[in-house]
Amino acid sequence: MERGDMNQPMVAGGDLIYTQSCCTLCARKVTDEQDLKMNLLPKSSKEFSSAEYWETFFKKRGANAFEWYGTYVDHCAVLHKYIKPKDKVLVVGCGNSELSEQMYDVGYQGITNIDISEVVIAQMKERNVTRRPAMVFVKMDMLQMEFGDSQFQVVLDKGTLDALMTDESKETLRNVDRMFAEIGRVLQVGGRFVCISLAQEHIAKKAVGHFAQRGWLVRIHAVEEQGTASRQFTMPVFVFIFTKFKEIPGAGHQILEMCAEELDKPLRMDSVDGLLEAMKGRQQYALLRNHLAKRSSSRESVALTLCDSVSGKPRYTFHVVDLPSVKSPRTNHFAIFIVPQGRETEWMFGTDEGRRQLGKSAEFRRLLVVVLHRDQIYESMEAIQSELSGKVMDLAPSELPPNQQVPFLSVGGDIGVRTVQYRGTSDMSGEYVIEDIKGEDGNYFRHLIFLSNVNVVQSEAKLLHDISKSASSQKKKKKDRRRGQPCSDAEKSSNPKAGQAVDKSYLCCNHHRAMIAGLVLLSKKSGLLADTPFSLLLVGLGGGSLPSFIHDYFSQSAVDTVEIDPMMLEVATTWFEFSQDDRMKVILADGLNYIHIADSGKVSYDVVMFDVDSKDNTLGMSCPPLAFVEDAFLQKVRNLLAHQGLFILNLVCRDHSLKEKVMAAIKGVFPLVYLQKIEGEVNEILYCQLTMEHKVGSKDLLEAGQKLENTLKKPGRHWDPTYNLEEMLKTVRIV
Ligand SMILES: C[S@@+](CC[C@H](N)C(=O)[O-])C[C@H]1O[C@@H](n2cnc3c(N)ncnc32)[C@H](O)[C@@H]1O
Repeated sequence: MERGDMNQPMVAGGDLIYTQSCCTLCARKVTDEQDLKMNLLPKSSKEFSSAEYWETFFKKRGANAFEWYGTYVDHCAVLHKYIKPKDKVLVVGCGNSELSEQMYDVGYQGITNIDISEVVIAQMKERNVTRRPAMVFVKMDMLQMEFGDSQFQVVLDKGTLDALMTDESKETLRNVDRMFAEIGRVLQVGGRFVCISLAQEHIAKKAVGHFAQRGWLVRIHAVEEQGTASRQFTMPVFVFIFTKFKEIPGAGHQILEMCAEELDKPLRMDSVDGLLEAMKGRQQYALLRNHLAKRSSSRESVALTLCDSVSGKPRYTFHVVDLPSVKSPRTNHFAIFIVPQGRETEWMFGTDEGRRQLGKSAEFRRLLVVVLHRDQIYESMEAIQSELSGKVMDLAPSELPPNQQVPFLSVGGDIGVRTVQYRGTSDMSGEYVIEDIKGEDGNYFRHLIFLSNVNVVQSEAKLLHDISKSASSQKKKKKDRRRGQPCSDAEKSSNPKAGQAVDKSYLCCNHHRAMIAGLVLLSKKSGLLADTPFSLLLVGLGGGSLPSFIHDYFSQSAVDTVEIDPMMLEVATTWFEFSQDDRMKVILADGLNYIHIADSGKVSYDVVMFDVDSKDNTLGMSCPPLAFVEDAFLQKVRNLLAHQGLFILNLVCRDHSLKEKVMAAIKGVFPLVYLQKIEGEVNEILYCQLTMEHKVGSKDLLEAGQKLENTLKKPGRHWDPTYNLEEMLKTVRIV
């Protein structure tokens, strides 16, 4: 990958509060003491659109130039690109800016300036009459110009549209339409309306919408911040270039482009909304960056995303972790931590709390945790460093001493391995990917990830084979095609699918390990052994590793799994080696309905397990959905259980008061409830029984765990040595 081919910024998240300026134009730092003394600022932004205001403004201001949105120096790169020295240029709302004078001095001699203020036109005439005799100044209303049609090759506006469009009232919109119509009239076909603006949302929407609809070419240039222009403002400055095309009724084709210094070429956008979004992303990025540069530290969590310069797709997400408590000798102000590909879902990298812990152990006052996106190609740690070295300095804390080396940190210097095996869409969960990644221990894992929740691994399996070879051949293939493209169909079919790839003896999730360990509570005469027969109903298939393990290790078990999403069964079967037989059955149904119907007394299970996620992210409970733990429904679960049955629930609830309610409901139905907290996870596993008679003391529980484990470990069958049932059961307590 070539160097320096990034990045179109956008904001991924963050919760900063910005100081708001009273209006667009005041976003410039016009609060110089002098301006205030002269009382130049209007009482309300509406005044910017009145001729009287400007008359008074220029009377008070006198001959001193007042520059809105930067000077010639800030904008000359873009101006020179779109304005030829021979062009006839009309500057609308020239004010007493030096822009046209400086343009004149470098060779643009065909400039006509208009302004509604008589005072400023008189001042400007006087200022230029001898030095710039060919420059024209006329008092004229741009909403009603006296020029003939097609007189100019360029109309140039710096701040005047912003001054006019202070709101979206009918009257204002009518005036803006008049302004645009007049500009359209006086411009030749092929001519350009060059408009320098802070591009507030309503203004950008109106201007881009207006000209795009008329088939004009629309380009937005982000003004670089090296100069003074953008730094002066709380918002970055943009230059709109609207090029007049012949209006062809019904042509419908729009050319919409975003330009920025770091982009290789203008980035073509599909729609007006897409263009406006890209611009908004840049605005938010600039606001955050300016905010971060000014503050030394804070507890706010901020994330910014940089997009790839070719595809425009996300390439890097920066999580800014500030740790004011870290003592700060000269060397540890700021560091960059690169998260290996595919490991951004781990607690340490994927949560605010984890990243803070990472920052504390790294001992830097500001740590920039960098996440690498899927579908992007990264060559090496060195390539990432050189690509990022310019960008990350924008996010350095204000107190970073000059010329300080900023270290790049990582886990073992490795950028990790991520191979996207498949992309699909489920009606219930939206887009998802199946990807193989290399874990911390060097083993490879397969993940199911819903793109609506990229920080959570929905299902995980350990792979038997080192996929690095297939991963590097993928990488080679990918190199040949444009970056950022999803897996093609051809690639999908040539990918190694699951065939004998999954280590089914390995349970990746600790909560699954705990759910299985809890089976020892199943009251069977001689305790639970590997060959004890029992029937089990599981709601929530996932990748199928939990039911597969039970099926494989408990030789007399009969497992019914209810799954609501047909896609999950397909994914489990294709990618996680899940299979059905006479002891393993999947019922595609809503678990709630299934249990309602099953509650007719005809079916009963020794064990009912819920491992079912909630799609409702407005609640602080992601597992199970609320309806599964409501009183009446729990009664049905109870009815479904055999006399000495066991109900096992995977509970993920961050909302304390909700959790209390859920616990109360469960205890109301099941008199005996054991709880096991899972270390490092929010998950808690509840083992619920029908009567207190089944109560088992902790010593007996551990013994039962040990006994069961001994029977599960059969000669010739693989057993993961890190799965110790007795150890696991030590933390179980009755609640
Ligand atoms: C924000 S100032 C910008 C001045 C100058 N372009 C600059 O960059 O410093 C807006 C200018 O537009 C002028 N103006 C406002 N309404 C106008 C109209 N309808 N026709 C012409 N000029 C207008 C004001 O008098 C004022 O000089």
